[in-house]
Amino acid sequence: MPLPNAFRRDGEPMPGHYPVELLVCPRCHLGQLSAIVDPNVMYTNYPYVTSPSDTMKEHFKRLWDTLNAERKINAVVEIGSNDGLLLEHFRNFGAQQVLGIDPAENLVDVCCIKRGIPAICSLFNREAAEETLDTMPAPIDLILARHVFCHIDNWRQFIDDVTVICSKNTVVCLEVPYAHDTVENCEWDTVYAEHLNYLTLQAMEHLLSDSALHLHHVVRFPIHGGAIALLLRRNDAVEPPSASVDEFLASERCSLEDWQRFGQKANEQIGALKALVKKLRSEGKRVVGYGASAKSTVWINAMGLRRSDIECVYDGTPQKQYCTIPGTDIPVRHEGAFYADAADYAVVWAWNFLSEVITKNKKWTEGGGKFIVPVPEVRILE
Ligand code: TYD
Repeated sequence: MPLPNAFRRDGEPMPGHYPVELLVCPRCHLGQLSAIVDPNVMYTNYPYVTSPSDTMKEHFKRLWDTLNAERKINAVVEIGSNDGLLLEHFRNFGAQQVLGIDPAENLVDVCCIKRGIPAICSLFNREAAEETLDTMPAPIDLILARHVFCHIDNWRQFIDDVTVICSKNTVVCLEVPYAHDTVENCEWDTVYAEHLNYLTLQAMEHLLSDSALHLHHVVRFPIHGGAIALLLRRNDAVEPPSASVDEFLASERCSLEDWQRFGQKANEQIGALKALVKKLRSEGKRVVGYGASAKSTVWINAMGLRRSDIECVYDGTPQKQYCTIPGTDIPVRHEGAFYADAADYAVVWAWNFLSEVITKNKKWTEGGGKFIVPVPEVRILE
């Protein structure tokens, strides 16, 4: 596979390819990639920006309400703050001090300059933790890392570095895709270089067993096809852990056999979408993609399709437009051209925002356009 977010314009050098092999622990059912790509290659100039969609805004509000109920939030540090969108929302909801940490220079510039939110430009490590303490001397109420933990190779070091900036009452919130949902919904297209880990609570309990933190509360959210927020507290925190931790542990289903079925079903789905696109093309239909997500890179490369099959993929992110889908000759076009271009079928590769995509393109479907949804099963929306 190429790196799924290596969106490049004509003539720009592409990083190499890498193997995708998912290894599963037979005891705690944690999934991990067998190969690790240097994070400096993937994240120094990063085109992924947190989607400013309505779905995401609703998620931020739910997350704020959950976390603010756990502890009144004044001071927030976000690890992997991207372009500062979440911190801007949290500031509007009432946080008085906010600080971001992110390694992508292009995104930290947007965060600081456009939004006026201070940010440290670095991967999260011990130096960044110490700089955080210097920058934000008041006790931190919330340390938040959304969809960051699954990108990290050395979990123990990360937990140790988080502990450095944690006071007795700090809430640490790790929002991660939940392996249970990944397996159940066959979200195989989220398996790629950036996602080193496919997290189970069993693995998390094991990790924390000899640390200064413990699992305090677990909350499920519908964002990105099923995520969980793991709320960690210091072991000397006064409040007892919530019953949610044991409830999640008891209902977790992703055994080795489940993972193996997931692999088989992924292959079936790749074959099914490829056959459908080829059939539509043989009937002279025009097929495009909607959402140049990392998932679109994974699908298109797994199917081995080209521009003669998928004309282009539409996306609203300026950093991706005028680039090609990594590893292919398929261009990314401005989302605004979707309606006028009037293709016959569009594969929704932003399937985690499906209802929003459907709502905003009603005119296109009323005119006869049809969406194809690839996950959990390939289907044409009627
Ligand atoms: P996303 O699912 O957030 O990420 P990943 O790369 O982790 O798979 O990507 C969704 C992409 O779809 C993102 O590039 C933004 C784009 N998008 C649109 O262009 N229009 C939309 O209406 C929505 C909801 C997403």
